[in-house]
Order: sequence, then C-alpha cells, then structure tokens
Amino acid sequence: MKKKVLVVFGTRPEAIKMAPLVKEFRKYPEKFDTRVCVTAQHREMLDQVLEFFEIEPDFDLDLMQPNQNLYTLTAEIITGLKPLLESINPDYVFVHGDTTTTMATSIAAFYSGAQICHVEAGLRTFNMKSPFPEEMNRCVTGVLSAIHFSPTENARENLEKENKKASDILVTGNTVIDALGYSVAKVTAAGFAHPEIEQIRHLVKPGIKTLLVTGHRRENHGEGFLNICRALKTIARDHEDSAIIYPVHLNPNVQRPVYELLDGIANIHLIAPLSYPAFVWLMEKSYLIITDSGGVQEEAPSLGKPVLVMRNTTERPEAVSAGTVKLVGTDPEIIVKETRRLIKEEGYYNEMSGRHNPYGDGRACERIVTFIQNHTYEG
Ligand code: UD1
Ligand code: UDP
Repeated sequence: MKKKVLVVFGTRPEAIKMAPLVKEFRKYPEKFDTRVCVTAQHREMLDQVLEFFEIEPDFDLDLMQPNQNLYTLTAEIITGLKPLLESINPDYVFVHGDTTTTMATSIAAFYSGAQICHVEAGLRTFNMKSPFPEEMNRCVTGVLSAIHFSPTENARENLEKENKKASDILVTGNTVIDALGYSVAKVTAAGFAHPEIEQIRHLVKPGIKTLLVTGHRRENHGEGFLNICRALKTIARDHEDSAIIYPVHLNPNVQRPVYELLDGIANIHLIAPLSYPAFVWLMEKSYLIITDSGGVQEEAPSLGKPVLVMRNTTERPEAVSAGTVKLVGTDPEIIVKETRRLIKEEGYYNEMSGRHNPYGDGRACERIVTFIQNHTYEG
C-alpha cells in the first residue's frame, strides 16, 4: 500500500527547505501519495519559491493578512487544516523548522492522528524569548513529533537531552544544502535566463565591496530595527568604497523603519525581496553578509562569506564555532565596529571567509525519503 504523505509549509524559508523534499518524494509515485498544502502564511515571498522550484500545491489555505497577528494566524491554520486532514487522512504529515505554520500544523496533525515528521528538528537556543516565537514553536513541534530529522549532530544531542528516543531521530544534514544544489544547477544550466539577476547586476560594481543585508526577526521589531538602520547609515557614510544592498522583507514592521531611515542614501540600495536564485547569486557576489536570518547563516558559510548575525542568540552554533559566523546583536556600535574590521583588516577577513559547510552534503532529502520508505507506520 502507498504511504500517504502530506507536506505542509507556509513561509519563504520553509518552502525553500521543503521544496527538494517534495521533489524527492515525487520521484516514487508507486510508493508515496505525496500532497502539498501551503498555509500561505506568506504570499508573494512563498509564491516566488514555488515558481522557481516548479511546485504547484494541491491545497492552498491562502491565509496571509497584512500585518497579521500570531493569535489569529495560529487559530486559522488549525481550523483551516481540519477538513483537509479529515478528508485525506494522511499517514505522515511533514512540517519544517519553527514558524507559526509549523507549530499550528503539528497541533492539527496531532489531532488527526497522523505521524508528525519534523524536518530541521532539534535546533535550540534554550531561551523562549529569542528567537520569539520560534523557540516555542520548535519545542512544541518537537513534543508532538513522531520522527525528528535533525540537520546536525548537535541538534540530535539536544533532542536526546529531551529524552526523545534515539531510534526516532535521524541526522540528515540540512535540506537547505539540497536546495542550494538545485538552485546552482538550474541557474548555471545552458539557456537559463533570470530577469531578476539582470535587473540587479548593475548594483554589484567592480572595486566596490557589496555588503548584503537582510532582517526580519520579531524580537528586533521597534528599537532593534531602528538601531540596525542607524548602524547601516553610519557604515554607508564611513565606507564610500562599499555599497549596501538590502532586499527588504515585506513585513510592514520592517518596511516602515527601513524605508523611512535609509531611503535616498547613495550607497544603500533598498530592493524588493529577491527570488531564491537571484538571492543566491547576490550572496555569491557579496563581500560580507549582515543578517538576522536563520537560513542565511546556513547558506553563507558554504559560499565562503563571513556573516555578522544581528541577534544575541543562535540555534546554529556550528558556523559560529567554525569562525565564519559572528553574533553582533543590534547595538549599532558593535555592528559598525565589526563591519569596519571586516572591511579594513584583510587577515581578519580571510580568517572568517574560509569555505565551511557544517550543514550537509545535499543528500538530506534522499535520507528522509529512504527512512520513511522503511518506516513502519504506527497510526
Ligand atoms: C515569519 C516567521 C519567521 C520566519 C519568517 C521568514 C512566524 C511567527 N514568523 O516571520 O519564523 O523566520 O517568516 O521570513 O512564523 N508579508 C507580505 N508578503 C509576504 C510575506 C509577508 O506582505 O509574502 C507581510 C504581511 O503583512 C504579513 C507580515 O509580513 O502579515 C508578517 O508575516 P509573518 O509570517 O507573520 O511574519 P514574518 O516576520 O514574515
Ligand atoms: N532569501 C531569498 N530572498 C531574499 C532573502 C532571502 O530567497 O531576498 C532566502 C535565503 O537564501 C534563505 C531564506 O530566504 O534561504 C531565509 O529566509 P528568511 O531570512 O526570511 O527566514 P529565516 O531563515 O530567518 O527563517
């Protein structure tokens, strides 16, 4: 009998990291009935990913609201999934990471009796307030999950400390490396043209260092983002031989301060969020990356790009230990000082920019699918 697999995701990073898994499951139609449901917690930023990976969801809850709140979003995901779970009655429900979609889907899937499979399981900061609400989301999902697919040994150890059974955990590497591989292969294939890359190519100038910036974390909304913008303004003023390129996240709590404080500065380019291949292209061209993103912390080390992380905690200690990622928080003085060091001190820059990839070999999805193939369903 075919195993019924339902893959649910809602935001840009979940889509990027689940797309190669959907493709892997769909290689075996005789073994798996694979369906995809998007909550559309994100809309445009999700659709960019679906288009690039050529995935058409079977179900689209279309939930995003402007400046949505966590209460309503959580409730709507749970109630939106109910009829779907009841009608298709999946054996396995796959969720990813730590968003509201992840946590709310896990609750709904638990009610339905499906086995919950958590991809990117076991990341922890051990601080419920940072990142907020992601630490809570992944802890709740971890409690409800039957199978935990961990990206690294460190993540596995976190789960074992929470008394998860060793046989329910598989270390796979991070599926983001599978996504990177797909992206690079597609973009470099003969005949592939990407209009977005052509549109941004002129922003990357010879002799000018490109500083790529992204940011969106809820705990940085308000004072945190004001500080980040102050720091970027100072960096732009002090380093005329550099240019900041900042694809601004669509969250209004990010758009507002960023456009109010940084629009119109000659060497700061504020642009719309980029589709995944264009963003990967831009990471490759960058001198350094300043971000509060989770996924970017995983991708940049394998591209040999130093990353300054505008957070006080990280659930991804591997690249920090390897020396390619450094936590700088949101204090403008520290962001400015660390950026200046990387621009001015060549030796320091070279130490941080060594290529390093603690996050996988691009075969995470293959391992997940093989595991499920051999798994005995205990519904
Ligand atoms: C969400 C996740 C966060 C993840 C991030 C990735 C939660 C609570 N937060 O944060 O864990 O790291 O996505 O980017 O799950 N918006 C648009 N179009 C889009 C996307 C967002 O207009 O395509 C705007 C909308 O006004 C929306 C708002 O951004 O209401 C916030 O989106 P939301 O998903 O709630 O929070 P993020 O900050 O994006
Ligand atoms: N990304 C993208 N376009 C952008 C910025 C980021 O495709 O303009 C990708 C990036 O390569 C990474 C993911 O989005 O894979 C990270 O998403 P985000 O920072 O929104 O979420 P997080 O990883 O922090 O949850």
